[in-house]
Amino acid sequence: MNVLVTGGAGYIGSHTAKALVSSHYRPIVIDDLSTGHAHNVKWGPLVRASLSDIAVVRRVLKEHKIEAVVHFAGSALVADSVARPLSYFQNNVGGTLSLLEAMLDAGVKDIVFSSTCATYGLPLSVPITEDQPRNPINPYGDSKLVIERMLEWMGLARQLRWVALRYFNAAGADLDGELGEEHQHETHLIPLAIGAALKQRERLQIFGTDYPTPDGTAIRDYIHVTDLASAHICALQYLHRGGESRAIQACRHRLPRFPLKNTTNEKLCAPTAKLSSTCPILFEVTSAHLSLRLADESAHANTIHSAVRRHLPDDELADLASALARFIRIEH
Ligand SMILES: NC(=O)c1ccc[n+]([C@@H]2O[C@H](COP(=O)([O-])OP(=O)(O)OC[C@H]3O[C@@H](n4cnc5c(N)ncnc54)[C@H](O)[C@@H]3O)[C@@H](O)[C@H]2O)c1
Repeated sequence: MNVLVTGGAGYIGSHTAKALVSSHYRPIVIDDLSTGHAHNVKWGPLVRASLSDIAVVRRVLKEHKIEAVVHFAGSALVADSVARPLSYFQNNVGGTLSLLEAMLDAGVKDIVFSSTCATYGLPLSVPITEDQPRNPINPYGDSKLVIERMLEWMGLARQLRWVALRYFNAAGADLDGELGEEHQHETHLIPLAIGAALKQRERLQIFGTDYPTPDGTAIRDYIHVTDLASAHICALQYLHRGGESRAIQACRHRLPRFPLKNTTNEKLCAPTAKLSSTCPILFEVTSAHLSLRLADESAHANTIHSAVRRHLPDDELADLASALARFIRIEH
């Protein structure tokens, strides 16, 4: 079966394209390469175009006899969305509008959508369940919520069948070493921590000290990118079996509980060894929450001055290093 993978040159999309082939699907990628890389598209054709170009999307759906869509394409930086809200609505909502219109014309009914936990905003309780209210607190989350609502309405009006996977933090890299996380402007914690451990950056900044956790810093849920890729395929299969349209949470693990059984891959050995040898990470902990930093760069500058600096104790470092090993980034 031919599956259109929008944003398939990006981080999660490229891992999913690979997983699709292993599950006997044929991925066709459409990507404007705004943040993705052509070299990540190895398992099927790449059409370099924006989703906003509806003529191209229509042509691709028809020419490749597409039967289902996995939709990753979009802008996904929370900070950037606070600074440039309109461009997030334009790219995420506008791009999806164009995609859905083209799908409707071509009679393609099944879509798995890459949504986000940012649709919830501040949760009422933790762990968050799918039935919690959706009150996003930034334009990125809001743009994804609008898309979820578009899917809901299109399901009612035009029998569109959809699954929205709400992820938390994707992390890790392809276990065969063929793909990795390659964001030019990196904001994700794991690659930043690895960068600090490898001395590629001076320190790892942690934002917020008043969370209800033992040390006041945030606890986050992570999901390995290959698990996420499998989740998309399960969602496709669920739709093909006649499953009802719905949103599903894609967050199962917290970092320290991640199984480490996959760290032995050869291509990962060198950086892993480097990471596990003593390389203290310099932490910079600031009381400012990330959202405050995003909203007001000058407030951020002040709080950085009063930031607490600390080295991680050796025993914690060993744990962190082995946990991070599974998340190591492949250098191209
Ligand atoms: N990375 C995470 O932790 C995370 C968490 C929750 C949700 N998500 C969602 O998952 C999706 C993929 O995230 P990612 O981390 O792989 O990001 P990414 O930036 O690596 O991938 C996005 C891809 O979409 C492409 N793209 C963007 N706008 C496009 C357009 N208009 N037309 C065609 N292609 C376009 C980019 O070039 C890129 O290849 C995003 O929609 C994001 O909102 C990611």
